[in-house]
Amino acid sequence: MKSATNASGSGTSLYVHVPFCVVKCGYCDFNSYVVEDRTVHDLFLDALAIELRREWRFGPPVSVFIGGGTPSLLDPERLERFFDILEQAVPLRDCAEVTMEANPESLTEEKARLARARGVNRMSMGVQSFQARHLRFLDRAHSAEKAASAFAALRAAGHTNVSIDLIFGIPGETAGEWADDLERALAFGPDHLSCYNLTFEPGTRLHRDLQQGKVEPNDEEVDRAMFLHTRERLLAAGFDAYEVSNFAGRGGPSRHNDHYWLQGDYVGVGPGASSHRAGVRSTNLKAVEAWANALLAGQPASASAETLRPAQRFAEAIWLGIRRRDGLDVGAAAQRIGVDAGLATAVTEQHVRAGWIQNDGSRIRLTATGLLLADRVGGDYLEIGLSR
Ligand SMILES: C[S@@+](CC[C@H](N)C(=O)[O-])C[C@H]1O[C@@H](n2cnc3c(N)ncnc32)[C@H](O)[C@@H]1O
Ligand code: SF4
Repeated sequence: MKSATNASGSGTSLYVHVPFCVVKCGYCDFNSYVVEDRTVHDLFLDALAIELRREWRFGPPVSVFIGGGTPSLLDPERLERFFDILEQAVPLRDCAEVTMEANPESLTEEKARLARARGVNRMSMGVQSFQARHLRFLDRAHSAEKAASAFAALRAAGHTNVSIDLIFGIPGETAGEWADDLERALAFGPDHLSCYNLTFEPGTRLHRDLQQGKVEPNDEEVDRAMFLHTRERLLAAGFDAYEVSNFAGRGGPSRHNDHYWLQGDYVGVGPGASSHRAGVRSTNLKAVEAWANALLAGQPASASAETLRPAQRFAEAIWLGIRRRDGLDVGAAAQRIGVDAGLATAVTEQHVRAGWIQNDGSRIRLTATGLLLADRVGGDYLEIGLSR
């Protein structure tokens, strides 16, 4: 089978976290804050300049991902300054993929043009749903109409690689509503789609509501039907299901995500951002002021660092790799990390018997049934890393 990507996992990617949002969505556990005081945006930019100068010393990145939070929330002047800072430390123009996340409520054609002029060649917009009641349930600050006009603004600004994020499995959502969401997203003509099954993340308002019995999760069978419909419909529309939740159209797969799934090195800057370099994982201080003040005082911005044990890295390589359509070459991963490939044999044999994993002798990947159980199957592989 032809590889869906030309990613190799070598080189280093850059992730830049912009931690501000218009509202805090009840389902979201990303490190993001509603901050009215715009001087905090300036503090963020001051500290970002220091962190980038300190942390990026790798030449052109494999990919850059400007995520959040909501990067499109920065006003045009601050967005210009943001790119000035980025450009001073990183040769953006030599980078094959520079993605920026945008939310419909804050994206304007002016900002879309500005981003494109500064080297962003891939936009990822969080639409999540087109149904007014589900947008309300998710606390989204935009309407279906606003999503359409923001998408049009991206095209008007000349963006030719635009991805859309959608969420399915919202409590009370019907299969028909989800099918309608997919059609409305396809009607935009996106170049890539990410379709996530809603998860109840501990620490979120949604999770608390679940525990207090205020919301009930959707019926599992309905969620499964939505998942299967997504793959079928997007395949028919010419998309490549290159990962459990990700579908590549004309824009191809996300190089940034592929690099991450292949366990490539990456540097994360911004509050709460994680980095992974040569088997060491570190995570920044989460609060904007604490992170910024540490940098301004010349102190480390990281809150924790851990050296992953080889068995842990191997377990994570499988956990990430089986989610990709191309699967994972277990022997090659074991050799790269320096462990015995046999560590995974018992789990693989068990999952092959259950019909969840396909093993062609060198590569393993999730079967059609396994795709529906990706988190559970991945979790079994992660356990290999816990005990050794
Ligand atoms: C961190 S968000 C940033 C994007 C942007 N701020 C937005 O909200 O559109 C990235 C994506 O993760 C997905 N996501 C976040 N929390 C989720 C959850 N609990 N369940 C499923 N998908 C989730 C959403 O589709 C979202 O677009
Ligand atoms: S989903 Fe996006 S907009 Fe909502 S809180 Fe999370 S990062 Fe912010």
